[in-house]
Amino acid sequence: MHDPHQEFYDRLAAEWDLNFTAEDRERLSRRIDSFGVKPGMNTLDLGCGTGVLFDMLRRAVGETGSVTGVDFSFQMARMAHRNFPMSNVNVIDADAAALPFPDSLFDIGFSFNAFPHFRNKKATLDEAHRVLKHGAKFFVIHLVSSAELAELHKSVGGPLQFDELPNAQRMKDMLDASKFSDVKIEDHTGLYLASAVNIKE
Ligand SMILES: C[S@@+](CC[C@H](N)C(=O)[O-])C[C@H]1O[C@@H](n2cnc3c(N)ncnc32)[C@H](O)[C@@H]1O
Repeated sequence: MHDPHQEFYDRLAAEWDLNFTAEDRERLSRRIDSFGVKPGMNTLDLGCGTGVLFDMLRRAVGETGSVTGVDFSFQMARMAHRNFPMSNVNVIDADAAALPFPDSLFDIGFSFNAFPHFRNKKATLDEAHRVLKHGAKFFVIHLVSSAELAELHKSVGGPLQFDELPNAQRMKDMLDASKFSDVKIEDHTGLYLASAVNIKE
């Protein structure tokens, strides 16, 4: 199904990396460091864009681990691939709601700055649950609150106009419905962080 976000992000891809200041990267890096990414892990980044998380994840997983990013904007995926041509970094041009991976492949999963844009959030969370291993953690991260992000998206307009993060209760319900456990949500100025553990039945 056609999604106007694809063209929107295709157009922004060439200059996307300029959005991040050194301070943003430092804050993000500190967050990622706190999530328990270990050497040898296979990591998943949904809506990876040009790969802003990749360097942080690569450092944490080392040469025996891997980083896999998924983005359905061809130009974003192309930039990510160009930025990170390493053999243990994979970039897949696909919809996060239909992941081309076998079950239980990844040790930990992230979606940074992307969840509000996913058209089919239920299918995306179901897919994240399917491809993560038993016991794997999944994180939805923004360095702003849901209210701050809603304002930003309104001001950007276009296909982003109504893209919002679910409030804490709604996000918890969504993660529960996709069979994640131990759901925790923080939503305050400067941070939205949802974390959950993947328990396979
Ligand atoms: C705001 S950008 C964030 C990119 C990157 N995570 C970052 O922070 O730089 C959102 C990304 O999500 C991607 N995206 C949106 N909907 C998607 C979907 N259904 N499947 C895969 N990627 C999607 C867009 O193409 C875009 O690259």
